[in-house]
Amino acid sequence: MPRVVVTRPIPAAALELLAKHAELWVSAEDRPLGVAELHEAVRGADAVVTLLHDRVDDAFLNAAGAALRVVANVAVGVDNVDVEACRARGVIATNTPGVLTDATADLALALILMVTRRLGEGERLLRRGERWSWSMTFHLGRGLGGKTLGVVGLGQIGTATARRCRALGMEVAYAGRRRAPADVERELEARFLPVEELLAVSDVVSLHCPLTPETRHLVDGAALRSMKPSAFLVNTTRGPVVDEGALVEALRAGVIAGAGLDVFEHEPDVHPGLLELENVVLLPHLGSATVETREAMAVLAARNVVAVLAGEAPPTPVT
Ligand code: GLV
Repeated sequence: MPRVVVTRPIPAAALELLAKHAELWVSAEDRPLGVAELHEAVRGADAVVTLLHDRVDDAFLNAAGAALRVVANVAVGVDNVDVEACRARGVIATNTPGVLTDATADLALALILMVTRRLGEGERLLRRGERWSWSMTFHLGRGLGGKTLGVVGLGQIGTATARRCRALGMEVAYAGRRRAPADVERELEARFLPVEELLAVSDVVSLHCPLTPETRHLVDGAALRSMKPSAFLVNTTRGPVVDEGALVEALRAGVIAGAGLDVFEHEPDVHPGLLELENVVLLPHLGSATVETREAMAVLAARNVVAVLAGEAPPTPVT
């Protein structure tokens, strides 16, 4: 039986599937393994199921050794995987696109509503036991009807987020490496703009591009200054797409109106400046965090492993 290593506990349905085809080693502890522990764990593995905090690089691949055939990342993002290094050794890398689209788009929408209507701030006010009274001017937020959603990266999750925002009466514009398919553009009545222009015209900018060397700090101080002072930034992709220090300064100085963040530059740490600000909503990387979605992600990763070990094409290789 091939040896499959799972670096952290994953839903039972996925482990049951893997156990039918392999001898399984599953980390007993529900925490990220340290680098040395990770390298020790993967030694001699034919397949490894990794989570988004595991770094799959040359050192990992060296530690695993020549038997390794597939690294199945339980995430759609593969910024933690050196896909080229895998390819160079004939190791197939897979991810989990599709199954987390709706959960992540739901969360992006939640952040958009939370930050524009100041919902976290309102809840904190009540929990502090502060006196309050309904009034015409009490705790006003901003409406979304007729406003422009600027999507950076109109892939599956960006499209699903845009659909939700269309239902709220928003217009859609987008920027990205390439143009979306014509039917998607038509359905969303979406305008394709250079990213600089997108930032300048959007009332809500929602980030959905993958983290790559090109998108690292895509939203830096200059990008933030090019946004409207009334605009909001929402990030559900990867923290390092935003320069967190520059964002803190921009939020403090009123360069933009607010931000909704599910991801951070140095997870699990959050820039202390963000914690002090009222005009920012902070969530602990919950984009795909539903029972249904996490099971679907883990099962898809397991199906990728089983396929490769059987000499078949995996359902969702990283291309
Ligand atoms: C989660 O962040 C993912 O990339 O799937």
